[in-house]
Amino acid sequence: FDTVDLIRAKRDGGELTTAQVDWLIDAFTRGFVADEQMSALAMAIFLNGMSRREIRDLTLAMIASGERMRFDALEKPTADKHSTGGVGDKITLPLAPLVASFGVAVPQLSGRGLGHTGGTLDKLESIPGWRADLSNDEFFAQLESVGSVICAAGSGLAPADKKLYALRDITGTVESIPLIASSIMSKKIAEGTGALVLDVKFGSGAFLKDQARSRELAETMVQLGQDAGVATAALLTNMNVPLGLAIGNANEVRESVEVLAGGGPADVVELTVALAREMLALAGQPEADVEEALRDGRAMDTWRAMITAQGGDPDAALPAPRETHVVTAPRSGVLTKQEALAFGVAAWRLGAGRARKDDPVQHAAGIDLHAKPGDSVREGDPLFTLSSDEPARFARALEVLEGAWAIGDEGDAIEDGGPLIA
Ligand code: URA
Repeated sequence: FDTVDLIRAKRDGGELTTAQVDWLIDAFTRGFVADEQMSALAMAIFLNGMSRREIRDLTLAMIASGERMRFDALEKPTADKHSTGGVGDKITLPLAPLVASFGVAVPQLSGRGLGHTGGTLDKLESIPGWRADLSNDEFFAQLESVGSVICAAGSGLAPADKKLYALRDITGTVESIPLIASSIMSKKIAEGTGALVLDVKFGSGAFLKDQARSRELAETMVQLGQDAGVATAALLTNMNVPLGLAIGNANEVRESVEVLAGGGPADVVELTVALAREMLALAGQPEADVEEALRDGRAMDTWRAMITAQGGDPDAALPAPRETHVVTAPRSGVLTKQEALAFGVAAWRLGAGRARKDDPVQHAAGIDLHAKPGDSVREGDPLFTLSSDEPARFARALEVLEGAWAIGDEGDAIEDGGPLIA
């Protein structure tokens, strides 16, 4: 095939054949299709879309570009969760050990944060001694013994996606349903999980803001999973408001541990429980009492074993910030707005996130919320606390938070409210 013909076909709204997609992804992975050509194709796909058949072909071709893991040798069923990313989204931390406490293995290959959404590995790395990089042998041994593993994805899964994502990131072609669906699902199918629950976000802190588009993304991914023999389901969840009260790294670990101890903010508990029920149902345990496992310490025991197995000390003190800055309520009333995107960007500017792939993060940086939309506050009450190791960062965080929260009167509408699970 001639790459330019394929670009022209997508540019003009045509469809690529299965053979063309296979050839393209193989040639791109080997370096025979230039980055400029693949970028042009990504833009044509962004603008003109792809048929369901093309999306499936693209997903399978990206899986075939690398290795595929298998869990056949494992004694237990496997279930995994993927979130499309949000602000304060620490759900993987309590969820993986919770599900594993029912005898289902959770092979959670995770990433680091980039931009305003946090990364699961960055959060866990605030635990002294904890290691994200495991060998294949360590990974399988821990799945067998503890049941849950949260670790870094090796570079062998879907290398074509890794290359393509790097181009999309710098060419304005991330927010495309065919490209997102094939990117996420190629990695999850290659990972070899038997069951998969997708947490697809909509709202200001999500990267697809529009609920109808998020629903289409969810349906596309569920279909791809089922076609590949993975029992797949999706929840559509609201990301207009940050999840829980902690946005950052160490503070998100702290909040996750509260959930594992049977407490924690209601929204974090609600989503953790809902996702755990879905994962367990797909893995053959529709009747599992997940709330009981949070109350009676079983989930906590698995968390402690999981952290310890990866070199971490579950009892160690978490890093504390050098400086804090408290924002208080200018008047009494009701908190009517708390916009996720702005709070995510502010936490990022405080040092909780990174601008470039290899930047370090500050584990103690972030934001602790003291009120959520709908809560009554009195003049002078703390609304949220900013934390950073560098106080010079406070001004830039406060700048982006201007207009991102509001106090109104009893009975005023709550902006971007609505149920957490659509
Ligand atoms: N996450 C991914 O892995 N791929 C995308 O395209 C978007 C989010």
